[in-house]
Amino acid sequence: MGLKCASFFAGVGGIDKGFELAGFETIFANEFDYNASLTYKANFPNVEFSTADVRTLNEKTDVPDFDIMLAGFPCQAFSVAGYRQGFNDEKGRGNLFFELARILEEKKPPIIFLENVKNLVSHDNGNTFAVISDTLESLGYHIKHFVLNACNYGNIPQTRERIYIVGFRDKEQYKNFECPKPIKLETKLRDIIDFENRQEEKYYYTEQCSFYDKLAESMQRCDTCYQWRRVYVRENKSNLCPTLTANMGTGGHNVPLIRTYSGEFRKLTPRECFNLQGFPQDFILPKKLCGSALYKQAGNSVVVTVIQRIAVEIKKAIE
Ligand SMILES: C[S@@+](CC[C@H](N)C(=O)[O-])C[C@H]1O[C@@H](n2cnc3c(N)ncnc32)[C@H](O)[C@@H]1O
Repeated sequence: MGLKCASFFAGVGGIDKGFELAGFETIFANEFDYNASLTYKANFPNVEFSTADVRTLNEKTDVPDFDIMLAGFPCQAFSVAGYRQGFNDEKGRGNLFFELARILEEKKPPIIFLENVKNLVSHDNGNTFAVISDTLESLGYHIKHFVLNACNYGNIPQTRERIYIVGFRDKEQYKNFECPKPIKLETKLRDIIDFENRQEEKYYYTEQCSFYDKLAESMQRCDTCYQWRRVYVRENKSNLCPTLTANMGTGGHNVPLIRTYSGEFRKLTPRECFNLQGFPQDFILPKKLCGSALYKQAGNSVVVTVIQRIAVEIKKAIE
């Protein structure tokens, strides 16, 4: 089939990975975070990569032709004035979504796939989503949007609700496209978190920690992820990890915690966080990146197995 993707706000390429596993190929990616670019390039060495700020990308000369736009773009409010001016006007700029619109207007790829936080639809009293869907429709796309929780759609034990927007220029393909059906969660935390073997010392909480007693008192189970919330321990539903977020990389105690089989307490390792995002084991985490960069990258990314299932549905719709 050979449909080619271009990825914007690519991060470490979680969306790209899901599409790759479904048989698509990314040919171009843009991401301005240097650390994320290292992880991306280590895993997708053949992709033409741009570290430019997307606002400076020339849609005519810097971006090759492609068939599917992939983007997990930042969610920002649109100023009313900006919207009225449209994305061709300087005043309409500033909102990063319009950078995607600008590229779409030039390249007119047949398909778009966008990912965002669940509350995109209610954000700014519905204005943000209205601007996005009006803009995409005015650019010639028929769009469907749906919210999926990774634990129900990706066989990954993480609560992660995200909105996905899929758009087609072709009306038949749009009609053919169906959102994936829920699947049984069979993966257990113990399948992707190592409760048994000792990890590097730095991940453990010892008695020197000022709130060690509280951890010891509250963290009784080994099939659960916990979070330290300033003064108390939050226990999550059994066998589910809470939504991983980019602020895991800001230090403090934002990384979820577990109790190991030997009764010790530790935070998840960066690799375990990538596992909880459904990345395959052979996904490379560059050795030269520090833990905080990798935690941030994992939290910013997507659940690859959910993306893969949506990409498979896109494939069915166009075949
Ligand atoms: C939510 S993350 C997307 C992560 C990606 N889906 C993944 O799987 O890793 C948004 C990304 O947009 C990037 N970004 C934000 N503003 C940008 C800009 N002006 N130009 C290029 N990249 C930008 C950030 O560095 C971040 O990596």
